[in-house]
Amino acid sequence: MPLVEARNLPAHVGIIMDGNGRWAQQRGKGRALGHREGAAAVRRTVRAARRLGLRALTLYAFSEQNWARPEEEVDALMELLRDFLLTERGEILGNGIRLNAIGNLGRLPGLVRAVLDPLRRESEGNEQMTLTLALSYGGREEIAHAARVLAGEAAAGRIDLDDITPDALRAQMPSLTVGDPDLVIRTGGERRISNFLLYGLAYAELYFADVLWPDFAEADLHAAIASYQRRERRFGLVPAPREEPSERRPASITRIAI
Ligand code: IPE
Ligand code: IPE
Ligand code: MG
Repeated sequence: MPLVEARNLPAHVGIIMDGNGRWAQQRGKGRALGHREGAAAVRRTVRAARRLGLRALTLYAFSEQNWARPEEEVDALMELLRDFLLTERGEILGNGIRLNAIGNLGRLPGLVRAVLDPLRRESEGNEQMTLTLALSYGGREEIAHAARVLAGEAAAGRIDLDDITPDALRAQMPSLTVGDPDLVIRTGGERRISNFLLYGLAYAELYFADVLWPDFAEADLHAAIASYQRRERRFGLVPAPREEPSERRPASITRIAI
């Protein structure tokens, strides 16, 4: 398993869990089976993240655009979501995990809200790790919502136009209450963002893996984090100064040790 350095962990990891449909297709099965196996991968990943000591994990489970999939698939996904929340309740509460949800939650069926809302309340005080499920979520939609809120405040004369700053927008985005994502992983082989956490992604490290989501294992999470730990984040600045200025090294970027 790739070595992960305990002191340089990304605080907030986001995952675009892609590839369930192809996983099932490769086996000549319906897409719902891929989603069922995908739910098992979610369980494994939450456990692995908690074991590592990540502060926040945001999982892209269902996009606002995914509602346009065939009704049968959407229904299967909603049932799996409900089952996941029911079966994981004990583990979430027992491990100090705070369960959160972001997105247009009003669109979720009552059968999901009936288990999601109480678990969010019950786990509110947990502090070991925040597990955020992005459900009916869209990054553009979240930005538009934040803009509407601030525009409303300005129209009502409660803030000035100059108060509409990047930080003011951020403060209206539920996806960023746990901080910007440090690392975003996408499984399934596509190199795109598909409307995930757009605003917070500004300086996130991106990691694309070919593994289909149902096959995602603890070792894959470790590989992604080990890759993150080998990178130097610069946030628009210059490379960090060398540790030993007397030592002559080529003018390359200092590597963060793993
Ligand atoms: C990701 O897997 C799960 C959701 C988007 C809900 P997909 O269902 O997108 O699987 P592929 O990409 O078609 O293989
Ligand atoms: C992104 O996957 C959404 C989720 C993982 C929930 P999609 O399968 O919906 O994205 P595209 O269609 O490949 O861009
Ligand atoms: Mg997909």
